[in-house]
Amino acid sequence: MMGDEIQDFFKTGLEVAKEAGERVKTDFYRNKKIEVKENFADLVTETDKAVEDLIMSKLGQKFPSHKFIGEETVSAGGHCELTDDPTWIIDPIDGTTNFVHGIPHTCISIGLAVNKQIVAGIVHCPILEETYTAIKGHGAFCNSDKLSVSHNQELKGGVVIIEGGTSRVKEILDAKINNTKALIENCHGIRAYGSAAINMCCVARGSHAAYLEHGIHVWDIAAGKLIVEEAGGVVFDPSGDSLDIMNRRVLAACNKEVAGQISKIITNISLERD
Ligand code: IPD
Ligand code: CA
Repeated sequence: MMGDEIQDFFKTGLEVAKEAGERVKTDFYRNKKIEVKENFADLVTETDKAVEDLIMSKLGQKFPSHKFIGEETVSAGGHCELTDDPTWIIDPIDGTTNFVHGIPHTCISIGLAVNKQIVAGIVHCPILEETYTAIKGHGAFCNSDKLSVSHNQELKGGVVIIEGGTSRVKEILDAKINNTKALIENCHGIRAYGSAAINMCCVARGSHAAYLEHGIHVWDIAAGKLIVEEAGGVVFDPSGDSLDIMNRRVLAACNKEVAGQISKIITNISLERD
């Protein structure tokens, strides 16, 4: 696939993300119709579904041969299969809990995979008015500012993001609490912004040394992975192995030294693949 084609796909993806962002912005200030999915803490609103429909129909009309993986379509029983075909990987609202509670850290995350590699990523945050973007080989940006990860090589000198996530299974929560404690003991502080995609952009922009989460899905990290890498960072499996994007866990870091220091002190958690 040619670079010009990827640029064209990216341009359309960005236009569609911005249009979807207008819907998210309007609905953010209104009463929301909320439903639950896996458990009481796994939320979806009518806006999530409407935004996913909008993105898929616009991109589908423009690129009829492309495939799609969308969070709400998969939740409704749709396919979650990553093939070599151009595939748009969509989280219509990442940070749904924030959206429901009026917390502004909420975004539309769109990644495009070709031959199973992410070649374009868009994380559009309509309330924060920040749009993070990356095209493979062309750097990462927030609005028009070029992004660059932190040069700090010591976990002890950084701030790390770790999320609670939506699982309420005791064994998973126990392991996450142990990992959180291990991180607190070894860094300046921990944070959690409630959106995997925004968390990854925080690593890309250089303010945070790393982001660790077990339990995410491919749509949470597809765009963010490329944005971190194009800002000079690394994205691994938390064990230190290379990332399997369908394997529901992620460690993004400013460099391999910090990632290695985190892998050594945490316990990995196994989850059912996407
Ligand atoms: C969630 C967010 C959150 C993370 C959860 C995700 P959603 O995605 O990314 O930060 O902790 O694991 O499920 O449900 O808001 O799209
Ligand atoms: Ca979502």
